[in-house]
Amino acid sequence: MTEQPLEPPAVVRSLYAELVVTDLDRARWFWVDLLGLVVEHEGEGRLFLRGYDELTHHNLVLREGPEPAADRLAFRVASPVDLERAERFFSARGCRTRRVPAGRVPGLGDAVRVQDPLGFVVEFVHQVQTVERLHQRYDLRRGAEISRLDHFNIVVPDVPRAFAHYDSLGFRCSETIEDDDHLYAAWMYRKQTVHDIAFTSGAGPRLHHIGFFTHEAAQVLRICDVLGSLHQEHHIERGPGRHGVSNAFYVYLRDPDGHRLELYTSDYYTGDPDHPVLRWNVQDPRRRDFWGNAVIESWYREATAVRGLDGQIQPAVEAKLDESAARVGADGLGTRPAQE
Ligand SMILES: [Fe+2]
Repeated sequence: MTEQPLEPPAVVRSLYAELVVTDLDRARWFWVDLLGLVVEHEGEGRLFLRGYDELTHHNLVLREGPEPAADRLAFRVASPVDLERAERFFSARGCRTRRVPAGRVPGLGDAVRVQDPLGFVVEFVHQVQTVERLHQRYDLRRGAEISRLDHFNIVVPDVPRAFAHYDSLGFRCSETIEDDDHLYAAWMYRKQTVHDIAFTSGAGPRLHHIGFFTHEAAQVLRICDVLGSLHQEHHIERGPGRHGVSNAFYVYLRDPDGHRLELYTSDYYTGDPDHPVLRWNVQDPRRRDFWGNAVIESWYREATAVRGLDGQIQPAVEAKLDESAARVGADGLGTRPAQE
């Protein structure tokens, strides 16, 4: 009789990330004063921020520390039992797990933190303090008028391994970038949108970006105009533009510590049980920008270091594949990836 795989925790959605920043006042200027995230709580060198539509206590924690890093990524789970499922699921994979008692993180009930097989600290939490939804407080809105957290994008050296891990966690795939032999990138979801997490091929584990949702493309454009007006245009890294993958309108910004965020809007519903996977060929110049604008080098190469369960920076392992090297030749035909 074959052994049944352990039931994974029922993940609802990506919930929040905690980033280490080197100057909390400077980070507040960028994330709150400029982008317009709401301060739900602050104290002990930390800021707890959220979007205007959110009913949950926070989407982003900024904590002052000696060097920029991502401390953890958090997912909300459907019930308290899912915390035990998370402990069993990750322990069976040889991963370290740790219980975090209610209240240790303001606004959160009991949580389970794990250092997952990909090297990231991931937190699972069910109970979250409900806060006032501010979606119709137009009088309070500033900056990019961010409505909610949408997704995490992580850099991993082995995309098929990351895909297999999140597949085992019950995530479904919406889109990929691939060719006949390789998987270069994938977008996976639990909530009924294009993704809660995506994988970029590169030296990892590192955090590529956090995606925040706005209701309209105009809000993405407006923050670019604001940054230009303030002569802070160097915070704009890539875009604005239209993605091929996800069809979202986007811009990528870098915060004062180099942490990357995406402002993202207009993707689509994925909740039908027979929802198909949309597969983009790596040679299609529309895959990452539907208008064919080239992806700049820093976007492929630079990312945020991640901390382990004990707080130490995790060493990055070089990638097996380089999507940016899989270019279309002058004859319009694809070339092979630089590294096999
Ligand atoms: Fe993204």
